[in-house]
Amino acid sequence: MRLHKIALLFAIPLLAPAQPRPKVNGPWMDKSLSPDRRADLVIAQMTLDEKIQLVHGMGWGALRPGAPIPPGSNEGAGFVPGIERLGIPAINLADSAVGVRMAALESRYGTLLPSTIGLAASFDPQAAFLYGSVIGRELREQGFNMSIGGGVDLIREPRNGRNFEYASEDPILAGTMIGELMKGLQSERVMGDIKHYAFNDQETGRNILNVVMDKRTMLETDLLAFQIAVKLAQPAGVMCSYNKVNGDYACENGYLLNQVLKKDFGFQGWVLSDWGGTHSTTKAALNGLDQEMPGDRYFGPALKKAVDSGEVPEARLNDMVHRILRSMFACGVIDDPPVRTVVDPFRGRHDAEHIAEESIVLLKNEGGLLPLDASRVASIALIGSHADVGVLSGGGSAQVDPPGGDAVTHHQGVSQWNHPVWFPSAPLKYIRKRAPLATVEYDDGADPAAAAKLAKASQVAIVFVNQYMTEGRDARTLSLPLNQDALVAAVAAANPRTIVVIESGGPVSMPWVDSVQGVLEAWYPGIGGAQALTAILFGDVNPSARLPVTFARSDADLPHPEVPGIDLKPVFRPPPFDVHYTEGLKVGYKWFEAEHKQPLFPFGYGLSYTTFTYSGFEADGAARTVSFTVKNTGKRAGTEIAEVYVMLPPAAGEPFKRLVAWERVPLKPGESKAVTLRLDPLYLSIFNADKNGWELVPGEYQAFTGPLASAFHISD
Ligand code: BGC
Repeated sequence: MRLHKIALLFAIPLLAPAQPRPKVNGPWMDKSLSPDRRADLVIAQMTLDEKIQLVHGMGWGALRPGAPIPPGSNEGAGFVPGIERLGIPAINLADSAVGVRMAALESRYGTLLPSTIGLAASFDPQAAFLYGSVIGRELREQGFNMSIGGGVDLIREPRNGRNFEYASEDPILAGTMIGELMKGLQSERVMGDIKHYAFNDQETGRNILNVVMDKRTMLETDLLAFQIAVKLAQPAGVMCSYNKVNGDYACENGYLLNQVLKKDFGFQGWVLSDWGGTHSTTKAALNGLDQEMPGDRYFGPALKKAVDSGEVPEARLNDMVHRILRSMFACGVIDDPPVRTVVDPFRGRHDAEHIAEESIVLLKNEGGLLPLDASRVASIALIGSHADVGVLSGGGSAQVDPPGGDAVTHHQGVSQWNHPVWFPSAPLKYIRKRAPLATVEYDDGADPAAAAKLAKASQVAIVFVNQYMTEGRDARTLSLPLNQDALVAAVAAANPRTIVVIESGGPVSMPWVDSVQGVLEAWYPGIGGAQALTAILFGDVNPSARLPVTFARSDADLPHPEVPGIDLKPVFRPPPFDVHYTEGLKVGYKWFEAEHKQPLFPFGYGLSYTTFTYSGFEADGAARTVSFTVKNTGKRAGTEIAEVYVMLPPAAGEPFKRLVAWERVPLKPGESKAVTLRLDPLYLSIFNADKNGWELVPGEYQAFTGPLASAFHISD
């Protein structure tokens, strides 16, 4: 560790000094003016060409080997040149869903955080803020001024390849966590972005599918998550998605962009297309797209022509430019631009480890096998999933490059697209360190019989299993790939004291669950993953996370037993197809409740090494509050996530509960705490399509927390 620090110190003087920026003294540089006023003052000076220059990118750049890298580009996913004479810097955009992508391109370092689905499992808005601030800080240190992470689509399809970079099946949890993440990111004076607007809920056919959905369902599900995140963070950008929604591409969908996002949600930033997701000039411009990415096919010369001819009014172009400039002023990237320096990997790792500790969910702990007692355990068999060298990460544009190369393949530099990448955070190393008296042996799990033999000869077996997920493709089933179910079954048959650690991008099925004593869901746990897992396995950290998604027993229990379109032949241009998400409002746990299906592990579920009780639950309809007391009745300090659900009156037509509030309650043994939570009226409302507005349905509401229920009334 010391050697690394010395290397860092030496690296600093070798860096090029920050580029001196031309001093521009226009009135828009007056920081006391509002971002909107400052943007207007700049626009008054701009030529038509300069305006057009801001509303498109400069090509695929570093994303496509061989594509030209424009001068000034920081070699991220996107680049928009600045307007030097007016003091407007270039926009350098980087993919950064779970850490900064492609850092290895210039021998830089980026911290891999736990997947955002894991962050959501913490139910901790402060952890989300911290998460965003790590990304924001490292973007600045790498010279970027805009993030294009921020996935907030609902986990409607549990086999979606991008679930690890989304947050939850619940819109209030997803919107809150990603909104807080964006607040943290933008607090570092970097522009944020949330994506993929909207209903990019599966990767199968993402460029050709048309989501067919009624307004109420749209607004109460995925769009609610976007609404909450927009309100919390006012992100600079919203990235529109590849798919169509009700017949129009998302990036030229007037209802989604102009009506809902800009008018109803009050979004003040700009809409940028997903990479290659723009399909027209005039239609897209008039329907609310503000910037084409990554090139200029529609918003370059073609847009200039459309403005010249009056097809697109110049006022609309000014609005696009205004949205971009006001966000640049509001986020501080003009007044305080990033200066490239060296990322501090130790700080990043520390934060990543803390978030991982809060994200790992204890799903099963039969007979109190966990936590392990390091002073008593004599032998541990560690099996599978390269647990001798590292932890898995998610792929696609959320891929972060591992420091020092891939822990398994030793591949150096920028990671290969859609190949599993392993980070050097080795469970074997940390478990050995934590249990120095025990013999800890590793078996790679390739041969279940050999693994079972080691398990049989050991006191405890810890089997790591994984499911690699990546952008561009969905999992065909919830089943673990690569014969890993058979591996777990063989190990558990040899040694009932078996603990399974899952590294997955979302829910998986567990046909072996009854034969093992412990199960931990670790998601992709990030660069501090092995340390956090070890701390939980040995009880240095008491797990507190809860599932942000339902774990179904099998694919047959899902609203769609198969991912829609999964059997499309891989022809060059597969025909477009409609997807009717027939679960409608009943996304995730709501489906299981309404359909009376028993999940394997429900949404909101997670165990602790201590126990909690609830008492005195009261709901007040007039004050819109709920109050209750939580007590730690066990022997260890722990944090209870108190979740509050509400069932609306029958007239609402939603015969299932919804999560409306929660609080993390840290408690020492024997301690109790009174909690009062405010219920946001929006979270109690339905969208009335006839009246085209949100409505609090009068009547009797049922509130639930822990094992308790309480009714409250809302009158006309
Ligand atoms: C992804 C986006 C990503 C962009 C740039 C697209 O394929 O859908 O999430 O930000 O590429 O890499």
